[in-house]
Amino acid sequence: MDAAAILVRPAAMGDVPGIRECVGAVAGEGRYLAFTKPFSFIETAFYLARVLDAGHPYFIAIDDQSVVGWCDVTPARGDVHAHVGVLGMGVLRKWRERGVGRRLIGAALDAASIVFEQVELHVYASNDRAGALPQIRLRRAGPSTRRSQARRRVR
Ligand SMILES: CC(C)(COP(=O)(O)OP(=O)(O)OC[C@H]1O[C@@H](n2cnc3c(N)ncnc32)[C@H](O)[C@@H]1OP(=O)(O)O)[C@@H](O)C(=O)NCCC(=O)NCCS
Repeated sequence: MDAAAILVRPAAMGDVPGIRECVGAVAGEGRYLAFTKPFSFIETAFYLARVLDAGHPYFIAIDDQSVVGWCDVTPARGDVHAHVGVLGMGVLRKWRERGVGRRLIGAALDAASIVFEQVELHVYASNDRAGALPQIRLRRAGPSTRRSQARRRVR
């Protein structure tokens, strides 16, 4: 398993089966996401179609043909918060700690800076690994004309 061979690219509707499997696997770990069961094919397709239709970022990491990670940025709830994007991501367990998440978050945040003024990452307080992610942006980001920041919210 060579992480250098992983391709990070924007998702397309043809990726629905792979995304569904990958998101379902991370959800099934029951520790990191707000859901623990896989979404159906239709739910996944509907969600992705809505994201792509709105021009919001949805990036995936691919090993050969399989989706091994994703990162999306979707609007926070409420039109008052339309300028705020919420970042969601996951990498299959066997691919973690090899820089895949860093590549995904970089691509998604670059795309998000065009559509959102601010990006939030909501993580459980026990999630040390994801809690460290905002540092990546702080290290990556130079001065920007648009305000873009990752904010950690503990729940
Ligand atoms: C969070 C997650 C996506 C990170 O993906 P990853 O591919 O392992 O991340 P990377 O290898 O690119 O590492 C990125 C950064 O994460 C942090 N990190 C990685 N492994 C870590 C660990 N064991 N402990 C603490 N921080 C860690 C570091 O800040 C690292 O940057 P660095 O290499 O400069 O130190 C992955 O761990 C995951 O899928 N977790 C479960 C789902 C989840 O927590 N999603 C976020 C909530 S929406």
